Amino acid sequence: MSNIHHQDTDTLAALVAPYRKTGVTKRSEENIRQSVEELLAKMTLEEKIGQMSQCADSEFSFGADIEAAPTDVLVREGRVGSILGAFNSRRTFDLQKMAVEQSRLGIPLFFNADVIHGYQTIFPIPLAWASSWNMEQIREACVIAAREATASGITYNHGPMVDISRDARWGRVMEGAGEDPYLGSLIAKAQVEGFQGDSLFNEETLIACLKHFVAYGASEAGRDYNTVDISEWMLRNIYLPPFQAGLEAGSASVMNAFNFYNGIPIAGNKFILNDLLRKELGFDGMLISDYGAVDEIYIHGAARDRKEAAKLSLDASMDIEMVTQLYEQHLPALVAEGKIDIEQIDAAVRRILIYKYEIGLMDDPFRYIRPEKEVEYHFHPEHLQASLELARRSIVLLKNDRRILPLPQEGLLQGDMTVALIGPFADSKDMLGTWQFSRYKEETVTLREGLQAKGIADAALLYAQGSGVNEAIPGGIEQAVKTAREADMIVLALGEHSEMSGEAASRMDISIPAPQQRLAEELVKLGKPIVLVLTNGRPLVLDWYQEHVDAIVETWFLGSQAGHAIADVLLGDYNPSGKLTMSFPKHLGQTPIYYNRFNTGRPVTAENKDEKYISKYLDGPNEPLYPFGYGLSYTHFTYSALKLDRDIIKRGESITVRATVTNTGNVAGEETVQMYIQDLYGSTVRPVKELKGFHKIHLQPGQSTGVEFTITEQDLQYCNASLEWVAEPGEFKVYVGTSSVDVLERSFELI
Ligand code: NOJ
Repeated sequence: MSNIHHQDTDTLAALVAPYRKTGVTKRSEENIRQSVEELLAKMTLEEKIGQMSQCADSEFSFGADIEAAPTDVLVREGRVGSILGAFNSRRTFDLQKMAVEQSRLGIPLFFNADVIHGYQTIFPIPLAWASSWNMEQIREACVIAAREATASGITYNHGPMVDISRDARWGRVMEGAGEDPYLGSLIAKAQVEGFQGDSLFNEETLIACLKHFVAYGASEAGRDYNTVDISEWMLRNIYLPPFQAGLEAGSASVMNAFNFYNGIPIAGNKFILNDLLRKELGFDGMLISDYGAVDEIYIHGAARDRKEAAKLSLDASMDIEMVTQLYEQHLPALVAEGKIDIEQIDAAVRRILIYKYEIGLMDDPFRYIRPEKEVEYHFHPEHLQASLELARRSIVLLKNDRRILPLPQEGLLQGDMTVALIGPFADSKDMLGTWQFSRYKEETVTLREGLQAKGIADAALLYAQGSGVNEAIPGGIEQAVKTAREADMIVLALGEHSEMSGEAASRMDISIPAPQQRLAEELVKLGKPIVLVLTNGRPLVLDWYQEHVDAIVETWFLGSQAGHAIADVLLGDYNPSGKLTMSFPKHLGQTPIYYNRFNTGRPVTAENKDEKYISKYLDGPNEPLYPFGYGLSYTHFTYSALKLDRDIIKRGESITVRATVTNTGNVAGEETVQMYIQDLYGSTVRPVKELKGFHKIHLQPGQSTGVEFTITEQDLQYCNASLEWVAEPGEFKVYVGTSSVDVLERSFELI
């Protein structure tokens, strides 16, 4: 299953084999500490700084052009301790050999990469897999990604990204779990556990790195790298929890965010990095700067020169500088001038070397580089199966009028009816999304291929591209209309290409690009049933489509098996179960929009909605088009009998919440039963709803089940104005339902 030529693999495997050690065992913590001290005593200042420097491998560049000596030179001279973006065992082997054999102390390198949603087998983008609300499968995706990446010699992941994001204009929303701190925390934990496994010494696990610490998702106006200005109260209640969860799960590394906090760029922000992350949250792992972020302290204008930027970053306890070379250029002079203490450098190098020992690199530098495993693991059928299963669960059904979906499978198979498959994503390989570096792009299953694989003959599956993503195709619309006329119904595959989300991919206008919109308008005029299938990396404004098409299926970027997963849903072989983890605005002007908003002093109610001086827009509603937690099924779930076992609790006690859910439709289906609370008043304002639990259930038609949640005092806590976590006495509401909006409610009191 690999496109590496086997003969090459055999040769490479034979080349690597003599370098691999046998019988290497895990060292004790005590032994590691002692060895680190011995090694540290042998290192020159330059060699220490070398360990603290990371370079991007020659072909890998992501941003500002960085002037640096070629990778090979830096490695031989012991001037780098880790390499970003060396993507195969041939390259990692060559570089490791150079480090071990030619640098003075022979300290092996970490190989770092962004393994965000798969390595060679690509899984749905994180915003998509979050929609599955399935921690087991998300964890498994990370286990597989780590297994594939480590076989190429990669040891250190630049992920997971656990930023809370509330503004769909920000391209990086695709990398995270969405807008909710509770769900985001569970997903952060699942990812760290998946990447790191039970032991970092295991050669199929990756060092995880929580990023971007912190509040990067609060970029003003959704523009990447832009100003962030939030209170510490907001920081602690909303942005911090997923990092705390990832740290509790044992993440070995953290990466800073590009933004500033209280006016100080985080790469040099002592409060955020030293006081909050290290001291308060107890993080003693490796802190790595984001790409160029140490240098950017200077570019932000928060340092007189680059030397001061280097000092600020080290003072804030930044261990590794990614790609720029300010540490190398300035730390020696800063030490000589007594402006920084050598102990600060030693502390950073210690943290790095501890992990080089812990993962077994110091004893067996080539243990991760396993060409024979690359061939075995990369794009392994079982990995593809896991990707397919998660892809199905990541799809969110947004609309399904008159139960137009699933498509009549038998009619299509027998050629009794025809579908026109139209649009730039109807037969596109661009289904992987950004933040992936797979060699298997061409193996991506397109939607058309997925439908063909179901056995639908070409005569029943007419096809026209109709439009490009951002450009019209001459004659494209005419051709598409002609094709659609011949069919009974239309499957219209529209969206954003993969570079329209991700880093440096903010959009002012988050609607479907104009040429595709024109195509849709022409097709709607035909009056035939239309199913809109979306490929995209962020919530979009879909108001027009909500009005004009019959069904909408949100498929995000689903990864290597995208076409199969979508075909399963369209034809009813999988009943969709995904639930949104980011609100979809009705209009761009509503962004940022999120369900756990605050009441304001002038909330809109059914009674006052026509008054003037209330918190509303003149030209549209406050509500999103599709709220957090929303997603339809081919069946229907009815909620009833919501009960609390008591309506007053004291501190230290808990409440049991019970409800009954019944599948009142005609097919079996999976439901995510969601439980929210609302703290009606507090010493600070409180969100109108907060997710506090969910259960995934599977019900046959007609089947009912009881679901049960326990609310403890801890679930009622939040960060108050004195920045303490407290549960304050008072009234609370409990909501249980199928989304953040469609819920039953009860009340209780904490005394
Ligand atoms: C910049 C991104 O912000 C970060 O997430 C990533 O890990 C680095 N580039 C390296 O690719």
